[in-house]
Amino acid sequence: MNLNLKDKTVFVSGGTKGIGLAIVKGFLGEGCKVACIARNEDLIARIASELKQEYLEENLLCLKADATQEEELVSSLKKVTERFGTIDILVSNIGNGKSVPDPLPAKDQFRTVWETNFTSAENLVRVGMNYLTPKDSSILFISSIAGVEAIGAPTDYSVAKSALIALSKNLARKLAPNIRVNCIAPGNIFFPGGSWEEKVKQDPDRVNLIIQTTVPMKRFGTPEEIADAVLFLSSERATFITGSCLIVDGGQTVSLH
Ligand SMILES: NC(=O)c1ccc[n+]([C@@H]2O[C@H](COP(=O)([O-])OP(=O)(O)OC[C@H]3O[C@@H](n4cnc5c(N)ncnc54)[C@H](OP(=O)(O)O)[C@@H]3O)[C@@H](O)[C@H]2O)c1
Repeated sequence: MNLNLKDKTVFVSGGTKGIGLAIVKGFLGEGCKVACIARNEDLIARIASELKQEYLEENLLCLKADATQEEELVSSLKKVTERFGTIDILVSNIGNGKSVPDPLPAKDQFRTVWETNFTSAENLVRVGMNYLTPKDSSILFISSIAGVEAIGAPTDYSVAKSALIALSKNLARKLAPNIRVNCIAPGNIFFPGGSWEEKVKQDPDRVNLIIQTTVPMKRFGTPEEIADAVLFLSSERATFITGSCLIVDGGQTVSLH
């Protein structure tokens, strides 16, 4: 399938680890011009230098910015468009499921999780919309199956990820026909340094039991499997798909709609 993504300009938030890094590599592999942001400067420098070994240096721009701070996004997006022109594909990937098991986490905790998982995306779309190519552009949010079903994830994370799906659906209806807006809800995605590796180290038997009993495919997903879905939804092969939330979870979710 020819995705015809060559020379598209892509912005990925949180592109230095795990799913975000796989998305960055996926678009670079398709010949796109890719900009990404993250907060850790050392990691940004290391990832940028590794990517430049494998992909065209002129196609890559990695910047330091905290997406919970709107003004930092304004300055990054300005730099990106000065270098690459308007943005065809905006991917909001930032998120973190770490929280507490309390039924209703304390206010400060809830706020932190909300800012990481929802405000970062709201800010990105608020600022990024000003720099989007006016026609045939695409916005994609990385949510989670925790936003689709109450699977026992932390309450604050589940609420924020669910709100992202609502944001995506509302924007899709209001920005059509020129801008498509979709969501991807990943299941359990394993990669070195990721949250699941930490859980496996803490209690391998428990994690194995969860995977074997709740995931019909009986394994973790990979960041590349999420990146493939992102590339497809962002491409002209998906031009009638907007307002969708694509679940990529090895069959874990059980609801009928
Ligand atoms: N892994 C899973 O099993 C799983 C399952 C379902 C959904 N998801 C969702 O998929 C997305 C990616 O997950 P992941 O596991 O790949 O996450 P990750 O390993 O924690 O990576 C997150 C990326 O975002 C950056 N980041 C975090 N907060 C930021 C901020 N405020 N401003 C700018 N950059 C920020 C991180 O770099 P810095 O720390 O340097 O900023 C890093 O590059 C998240 O939305 C997550 O909720 C993951």
